[in-house]
Amino acid sequence: MEKKNIDWANLGFSYIETDKRYVSNFKDGVWDEGGLTSDSNVVINECACVLQYAQTCFEGLKAYTTEDGRIVMFRPDLNAQRMANTAKRLEMAVFPEERFLDAVHQTVEANAAYVPPYGSGATLYVRPYLFGSNAVIGVNPADEYQFRVFTTPVGPYFKGGAKPITIRVCDFDRAAPHGTGHVKAGLNYAMSLHAIVDAHNQGYDENMYLDAATRTKVEETGGANFIFITKDQKVVTPKSETILPSITRRSLMYVAEKYLGLEVEEREVPFDEVKEFAECGLCGTAAVISPVGKVVDHGKEICFPSGMDDMGPVTKKLYDTLTGIQMGHIEAPEGWIHEVCQPR
Ligand code: PLP
Ligand code: COI
Repeated sequence: MEKKNIDWANLGFSYIETDKRYVSNFKDGVWDEGGLTSDSNVVINECACVLQYAQTCFEGLKAYTTEDGRIVMFRPDLNAQRMANTAKRLEMAVFPEERFLDAVHQTVEANAAYVPPYGSGATLYVRPYLFGSNAVIGVNPADEYQFRVFTTPVGPYFKGGAKPITIRVCDFDRAAPHGTGHVKAGLNYAMSLHAIVDAHNQGYDENMYLDAATRTKVEETGGANFIFITKDQKVVTPKSETILPSITRRSLMYVAEKYLGLEVEEREVPFDEVKEFAECGLCGTAAVISPVGKVVDHGKEICFPSGMDDMGPVTKKLYDTLTGIQMGHIEAPEGWIHEVCQPR
């Protein structure tokens, strides 16, 4: 299999159309058998529930080329599970988890020529999504759905890759108590668009959201969870009912404890404690671990001792171990790596 002629090392996080995508439709209470198509356009009714009432959700995972040339995916079963939870919260038809796995597998395999080579620094981002597709005008869930998966090769989410970023404490809220912050609903991202444009206009890379109820506790950013490293090398991550349960964060906490022998704590993190930490990072599929050098709270700067030039030392160890597991040169815990295909 010939790889596509792409400048892998200079990819950013943007959409590049690949050859195949997966589509399955839900109608009359059943999912059709689904399959791959070359057509990247979606044609739906003007009154489709997704267009009128934003009944849509998505997932994000990545496929990698390992050192020995295999193509693998990282913990796709957890994405399948999370999409099922999201679908239930949004009153959508659940795409069965084992079919989700088969669909992402088929889509990655069909686009193998777009999976960046080992060592290029790029990966194939896989985007499964689900939306209400039939016409709905009263506020009600759809009864027809479409599930799709596309792929796109990507580089780092933040320009500069491993360079520390600057974020600000955001005056907009991301997720209400008892709302949808814990699921991957499109609406969570729609309502964050103004906040991110505003942050960029003010010169910040991202927003730090605080809990909407008291605005005293750290939640997450628009697209990643936080990890903090204390001065005595504990790994701390915010616990909250209103953040997305990041697969990367859950994996990192495991890696920190079991591979690196670090103490880990998942607990509430008061914003007042942030200035005490030695390192800070954003973690997620797209972000991997992006180091944060500075948090700005209404003009007051919190500068982490790890500085603005490089990742802090503990963050770097976490990054190297996680990406080592994903790329296949560090042994993975049972079930974390799903092989798509052998070297061809
Ligand atoms: N938090 C939000 C709001 C996200 O959109 C994402 C991305 O999926 C994450 C956290 C990170 O989750 P994961 O590590 O499962 O990609
Ligand atoms: C991901 O990390 O997969 C995300 O979904 C974050 C962002 C691109 C929305």
